[in-house]
Amino acid sequence: MTETTPRLGARVMALIDDLARHTDEPGRLTRLYLSPAHRATAEAVLGLMRDAGLSARIDAAGSVVGRIEGREPGLPALVLGSHIDSVVDAGRYDGPLGVVTGLVVAEEIRARGLVLPFALEVVAFGDEENVRFPTSLSTSKAWAGQYRMEWLEGRDAAGTSLREALTQFGGDPDGIPALARAREAIAGYLEVHIEQGPALEAAVQPVGVVSAIAGLTRARCTVTGEANHAGTVPMGMRRDALAAVAEMALAVERLSEGVAGTVATVGSLTVVPGAVNVIPGQVDFSLDVRAPVEADRHGLFAAIQAACRAIAQRRGVGFASETYMDNAAVALDLGLQAALDRSAQRLGFAPLRLPSGATHDAVAMAAIGPSAMLFVRCRGGISHNPAESITLEDADAATRVLLGTVLDLAGL
Ligand code: GLV
Ligand code: MN
Ligand code: MN
Ligand code: MN
Repeated sequence: MTETTPRLGARVMALIDDLARHTDEPGRLTRLYLSPAHRATAEAVLGLMRDAGLSARIDAAGSVVGRIEGREPGLPALVLGSHIDSVVDAGRYDGPLGVVTGLVVAEEIRARGLVLPFALEVVAFGDEENVRFPTSLSTSKAWAGQYRMEWLEGRDAAGTSLREALTQFGGDPDGIPALARAREAIAGYLEVHIEQGPALEAAVQPVGVVSAIAGLTRARCTVTGEANHAGTVPMGMRRDALAAVAEMALAVERLSEGVAGTVATVGSLTVVPGAVNVIPGQVDFSLDVRAPVEADRHGLFAAIQAACRAIAQRRGVGFASETYMDNAAVALDLGLQAALDRSAQRLGFAPLRLPSGATHDAVAMAAIGPSAMLFVRCRGGISHNPAESITLEDADAATRVLLGTVLDLAGL
């Protein structure tokens, strides 16, 4: 290859394409936490880390972690990474891009024979999307010492508990508390991630530095009406749980439109019993509320809850809501943002700051060490969709910015 060939980008794209083969659903990419496809991907990443000369293992919660010691053993680690779980019918870059760019940077450092004044770790977290179990960034929060042991008793749609799934995966529920990393052990955390929005494309820039990550509340809600015969019960005498939830979803939309910068989504519904000739007796639905300003998030969530209770009361149905995620907005580390900026500018890219509406493992890592993120332009701003796409040139730009940042922090 010539000097101008985007060698690192080509390696990143090839590895991401290879990992995308591992799916729980033939024909589309679905890789839920602790599934067989997650296990296969974790083993593939483990093999890549070992091939690159990292000492690597899969930890008790299912994260893959590889390490290169620095000038002496046991130094604090600069951690590079992201996650390898996915949403249902996902794109291939959300998550794996941050793992693979970290791995390729580690490969490059080994190939150049460089010795750093800190340890370098690469991590592939496993539970960022939180779509299988009612958890909140559980694998990175295990490192942050914020794991809630009651998460282990949460169940997926098939009734399997997280504890059972983790044991089947080969993990160790009882070993989770010991995963907590001391602040002194973490020199910093850098996560490369696709932007999942249109700002970089509009700015005609391949990469941007993330300033802050929006706060996020998620709840599981249940509306209880009365299942009855769809042909015999007059309209005015029904307690239809789904008709109530329809009103609630519209209230969620209307209330969030009223507060600038906030977003709220009803993303999943389960209708019970779910038959054409039965009035819905129960509906479970998900609620996801995000805002850059904490007071806006709390205010909107409270307003939605009040509106749902009022709708339920008027319609004579029950309403219950259980909040299982309440992540504060996180400002990312200014020193690491500046280091990413310097590296980007050395490579000829404009310094560009942007906030993140999506959540990331960096939220958990920021609790135990300075953390920062680099966003990479994605086509049409599309993500959580199989059409997710980035260019080889942009993958190369991101990897070089990350490598340059590591060398800058190392004083090399
Ligand atoms: C996960 O990707 C999220 O931001 O919801
Ligand atoms: Mn992600
Ligand atoms: Mn995602
Ligand atoms: Mn995310």
